[in-house]
Amino acid sequence: MFERFPHCWTPVLPLTELTSNPLATEVAGERIVLFADGEQQWHALLDHCPHRGAALSLGKVNAQGQLRCQYHGWRFDGAGRCTGVPLNDLNDAALSKIRVGALPTRQIGGALWVYTAVTDTPPEPLLPESLEGDPTLFVTYQQEWQANWTRAQENFIDFAHPPYLHEQTIGAWLHDYAERGGTARVEADETEFGMTMLSYVGSSNSGFRLDWYRPNLSVLHFGGTPYNRLNVFCIPVSENHTRVMTVRRIRQASDGPGYSRHASGTDNRILDEDRVIVQSQSGDVLSNAAEISVATDKPTLMFRRWYQALIETAID
Ligand code: FES
Ligand code: FE
Repeated sequence: MFERFPHCWTPVLPLTELTSNPLATEVAGERIVLFADGEQQWHALLDHCPHRGAALSLGKVNAQGQLRCQYHGWRFDGAGRCTGVPLNDLNDAALSKIRVGALPTRQIGGALWVYTAVTDTPPEPLLPESLEGDPTLFVTYQQEWQANWTRAQENFIDFAHPPYLHEQTIGAWLHDYAERGGTARVEADETEFGMTMLSYVGSSNSGFRLDWYRPNLSVLHFGGTPYNRLNVFCIPVSENHTRVMTVRRIRQASDGPGYSRHASGTDNRILDEDRVIVQSQSGDVLSNAAEISVATDKPTLMFRRWYQALIETAID
């Protein structure tokens, strides 16, 4: 389970997409079901009933806030414990042996997050300031890409592509400079959360800052406050499907509609430019050892080293 994305915190879906019905979704190739109990706490279970393997997402949440399988009515709480088997008289000891894998969840920065391991004791996620605060005070925007998440992630920590791929948009200011033979210096330093990058062009000593938070968050610094940062997630859905989600922190709910219009206009155009190219790449970032790298690829090479080590921990 989660061989290519083990023991990671990741958002799954925006909070605005969750309804009171059980919701089937997929994370890193695993089918999971999301549901809210009577306390409105969200839970994530593997979407396979341990009885005969039916999708639990086809079931209903009962009045006790438990998820009831639609096939034979077995019931499960948010921790994946079986709480009842209809037409059978099971004692507590027998019931306690029946479990569905439950993934830890959190509501963070406008989205429901899961931890990709069945455990009761996950580490807490390391978060930037730009995702702190009331989880409903965020605006999200998303696209579905037919690409491996690692290819998408590299795109967002790559300073050398905007002058060309985004020549008509955010990279316009750098295009002529690059064509005239100008160079860039990309610094990347490992941090507790992942890495911090500073990219400089020409003789300027103010660099563009971008932080990468393991495993799949890029934080672009467009200003000095948490409200001027663009958070971009590359969420692994399956081997060749990534949900790219942008998240902006807002000061109050009434700011939401304006930010949403802005996000769906600018993000859509720029992400479309990225999407077409990233979808033309194949496999994950480790699938072709012959790829050639240069100095401006330092951050992507650091990401690749981390990803290689992550996969190795899953094999051990
Ligand atoms: Fe779920 Fe039988 S398959 S209760
Ligand atoms: Fe881009």
